[in-house]
Amino acid sequence: MTFNISNIEKLLKINNISGHVYGSETLSLFLYTLIKREKLSNIVELGTGLGTTSLWICQALMENNKGNLTTIDNGRDIQELVSFIQEISELLEIDPPSIKDSTTIIYYQNFIYKTFKSLNLDQFLDFKNIDINLQNYSFAEDNIITVDEKIDMLFADIAHGPDNIIDIFRCFLPLMNDFSHILIDSASTKLRSYLTLEQLVADLNKGKVSPRLLSQNDEQNHYLIQLVTQRKFRLNHLTEKEKQTQNSTAWITLEPVDYRPNPEVTTLP
Ligand SMILES: C[S@@+](CC[C@H](N)C(=O)[O-])C[C@H]1O[C@@H](n2cnc3c(N)ncnc32)[C@H](O)[C@@H]1O
Repeated sequence: MTFNISNIEKLLKINNISGHVYGSETLSLFLYTLIKREKLSNIVELGTGLGTTSLWICQALMENNKGNLTTIDNGRDIQELVSFIQEISELLEIDPPSIKDSTTIIYYQNFIYKTFKSLNLDQFLDFKNIDINLQNYSFAEDNIITVDEKIDMLFADIAHGPDNIIDIFRCFLPLMNDFSHILIDSASTKLRSYLTLEQLVADLNKGKVSPRLLSQNDEQNHYLIQLVTQRKFRLNHLTEKEKQTQNSTAWITLEPVDYRPNPEVTTLP
């Protein structure tokens, strides 16, 4: 296993500049390690922000020499990010996008494309500037993500309330790979979200599917109910010993109901 050290040094410097903005300084390294270790391939991220986590995800994909990240952001926060965008552009010696465009989405898009290109990570990136409404979206049917390949990792970083958690599961559970990960940022240290997750995962492990997880489509619902009976769900609360607003990530691992470890990695006997 090799590490691309020159890129990693720059990514660490970017973390020092702006990782704290969304509290992703260490989570980005965690995602990088998990993707590298498990050779995860098809990754979806809701909420690109300044690209901190997206960069590390693509870095792992590059080092694995396979995979793709679809990351989606509506650019809502752009006004507050201008000084960080300028500083990161300076570090990477790329032309910063013109400040006079800073109220526009083009400013944000340019920053993302130039940053990833300068690190040769653009080939692993599919950045979509879309406003997500978790209640209305059918991500596959609306062609927001392709369904040729099931998702190995979903990192949801746009909303973490109890209803959002249910919406995320309703939208994405049918799209997840047999062995896969769903991470929901900030959900583990908000009491109502924490309790929702605990109950939801306990129910799913008993094969119980709330009507709130079902859609209008009977065929899809039948598939979802079948799927839930054939999966184990493990919930971990990754919490940080830092008093900041975004100091946790709920990490749910999905795996088939089976009586041996992931067969692809098992050392027998
Ligand atoms: C917490 S930040 C993402 C940070 C990034 N994942 C990281 O850790 O470096 C959340 C991002 O979600 C975006 N966002 C919030 N609501 C959204 C929505 N409904 N649709 C698309 N993007 C949204 C915001 O613009 C913001 O950039």
